[in-house]
Amino acid sequence: MRQSAPPKTYRVKSFGCQMNVYDGERMAELLADKGIAPAPEGEDADLVVLNTCHIREKAAEKVYSDIGRLVKSGEQAGKKPLIAVAGCVAQAEGEEIMARAPAVSMVVGPQAYHRLPEMLDKAVHGERATDTDMPPIAKFDALPQRRKSPPAAFLTVQEGCDKFCTYCVVPYTRGAEISRPFSDLVAEAQRLVEAGAREITLLGQNVSAWSGEDGRGRAIGLAGLIRDLAEIDGLARIRYTTSHPADMDDALIAAHSEIDKLMPFLHLPVQSGSDRVLKAMNRSHTADSYLRLLERFRQARPDIALSGDFIVGFPGETEAEFEETLALVGAVGYAQAFSFKYSPRPGTPAAAMDGQIPREAMDERLQRLQAALNRHQLAFNQASVGKTCEVLVERKGKHSGQWLGKSPWLQSVWFEGDAAIGDLVQAELVEAGPNSLAGRLVQSVSLEPAIS
Ligand code: 5AD
Ligand code: SF4
Repeated sequence: MRQSAPPKTYRVKSFGCQMNVYDGERMAELLADKGIAPAPEGEDADLVVLNTCHIREKAAEKVYSDIGRLVKSGEQAGKKPLIAVAGCVAQAEGEEIMARAPAVSMVVGPQAYHRLPEMLDKAVHGERATDTDMPPIAKFDALPQRRKSPPAAFLTVQEGCDKFCTYCVVPYTRGAEISRPFSDLVAEAQRLVEAGAREITLLGQNVSAWSGEDGRGRAIGLAGLIRDLAEIDGLARIRYTTSHPADMDDALIAAHSEIDKLMPFLHLPVQSGSDRVLKAMNRSHTADSYLRLLERFRQARPDIALSGDFIVGFPGETEAEFEETLALVGAVGYAQAFSFKYSPRPGTPAAAMDGQIPREAMDERLQRLQAALNRHQLAFNQASVGKTCEVLVERKGKHSGQWLGKSPWLQSVWFEGDAAIGDLVQAELVEAGPNSLAGRLVQSVSLEPAIS
């Protein structure tokens, strides 16, 4: 392998879930600490980190097409970029990537990316390296402090999953459930707020399984963590994702009625409305227990917006079973949702099940499901018209004087007027589309500087 000049610029490209976005930000911080600058928009970077997702086949295949594209564009420009593959594909297929893609010099798993700087030093000297160790939590201690934050920040509080849904690779790629310690999370949240965060979304593959000891040594769960984080001055909003129905306890439900900073939004994947399919998926809930759980959240917080994940075409799913999913969607009235065609993942139990569903049937079911979900999303947005709510301004809009932010219910809201990124403004929601709402600025309320 050839030697390379030390990279001057980097680009981190994250695919998949928000946890990857978080990991991508942390890798960018590591590279910035080595004096490498983010590559300007539209320019090739000397070092590219592909932070990959393995959850569905398409997501994994993207890695190889991206590597091909990078090599080609490097050849045209007369220089070879250093390429690192990170994330869950790296974890699951590290050796295969090394064998199949000679242009890749670093493969680093989600629990090992704190070692990226050392690997980079080696790569510059022509040494290819793979690190897919899974030391629990070590990475967080090795990462630099947060210095810059967007108004809406992510904070990984928990990683891994012990649920072993039969279709899912996460328990294999991200490992066993592990919670970051309470004091580390409070410290990181505080620093994020000092660095500009007004909203923090607590992340975990199975975030509702977070557990720890608070500052006084008491055992607490996610609700206790949220309660303590809500004490941070300057932090205005808290969200969490993704939860599993089996871990939603009374304290978390109560938190939605008691903690003002906890936003009225719940992403709670159900996957299917058929009890037979749910059992085959090794989900521990039924359609009915899921609906009853949502009802308790609604009692605690009547305006709560609901979101979910769905898989269509799980092995053996009949038309009647799929219709049970449609019926559940009708019963819930989701504000938003994610829906996917079942994708067999190597090594998972479902991949070896009988009754794999033909692609055409899956396509057709997905279309019908998405049409229903879109109708509900539009209806939810339309029902918001006339409300005045707080909007956290996250970025500028396309036109001058236009801003884009999020409502408490995670809707995108456009408005015009006097505002700045990071402001919390009051806006009246005046017009609804399927994916966003138009707002009218009622009052611009800038927060006091967080902590001086
Ligand atoms: N095929 C399709 N969708 C999947 N998901 C997870 N594994 C698969 C798979 N093998 C979906 C689930 C999960 C979301 C993150 O991705 O709906 O909640
Ligand atoms: Fe995958 Fe199920 Fe764990 Fe979610 S709960 S990460 S779908 S195994």
